Amino acid sequence: MKTERTVILPWLLSASLALAQTFVPRAGPDPALGQAEYDRFCPSQNGTIKTLSPSSSVVVHCDAIPRLPVLGDREWTASMEDCGLWCENMGTACMASFWDPRDGACYWSGAQAVEPRTKYVSLVQMTSLDSCDKEKEQCFKAKAQCLNDKAACLKAKGECEKREQTCLRDKKNCEGREQTCLRDKKNCEAREASLRRDLQARNREIARFRERTPCM
Ligand SMILES: *[C@@H]1O[C@H](CO)[C@@H](O)[C@H](O)[C@H]1NC(C)=O
Repeated sequence: MKTERTVILPWLLSASLALAQTFVPRAGPDPALGQAEYDRFCPSQNGTIKTLSPSSSVVVHCDAIPRLPVLGDREWTASMEDCGLWCENMGTACMASFWDPRDGACYWSGAQAVEPRTKYVSLVQMTSLDSCDKEKEQCFKAKAQCLNDKAACLKAKGECEKREQTCLRDKKNCEGREQTCLRDKKNCEAREASLRRDLQARNREIARFRERTPCM
């Protein structure tokens, strides 16, 4: 019995640790990391949903902060993802966290609505959104995807049109060469006909000559 308990206890401890995805804290301000993390997320992931752990997803907003920020309560986390996990670990009180690229500080907020503010990254916890908001986020994401697809389509169309232009030019050149060939062929045929006529005239002359000189 005693041995079993000593085996089970550390196992339980590590299992519960694995379940609660914890963030990695950092010592203090780090402008280089702050900016690097901003650049890693913005603008490429603006408006996208990012999964931080099996139980946590956030909507990324570039250049926005939550409407009711709690600027006093700050944490230094090792990454943007950890800034989101820190908020998630706080429970329902935290609805969003946001990252200041100037020093890499992570703040939390009890509001999930964001408003424009340059040079911040807001991470809104998906769990804090109601189904309507979630749908809206999905729509936003789908719209961004559509715009990307449209841009790719337009680019492909442009390339097609350029190729078509080249084809048309080549076709015109071909047709020009064909015309020249046909003209040359016609000249050849005319010359051939005239040579044939000459030949026939000569043959007739030879025949007449032979008639006049029967001894040959
Ligand atoms: C992120 O998207 C929002 C909403 O479309 C826009 O206002 C903002 O300028 C974007 N930020 C960046 C850095 O692209």
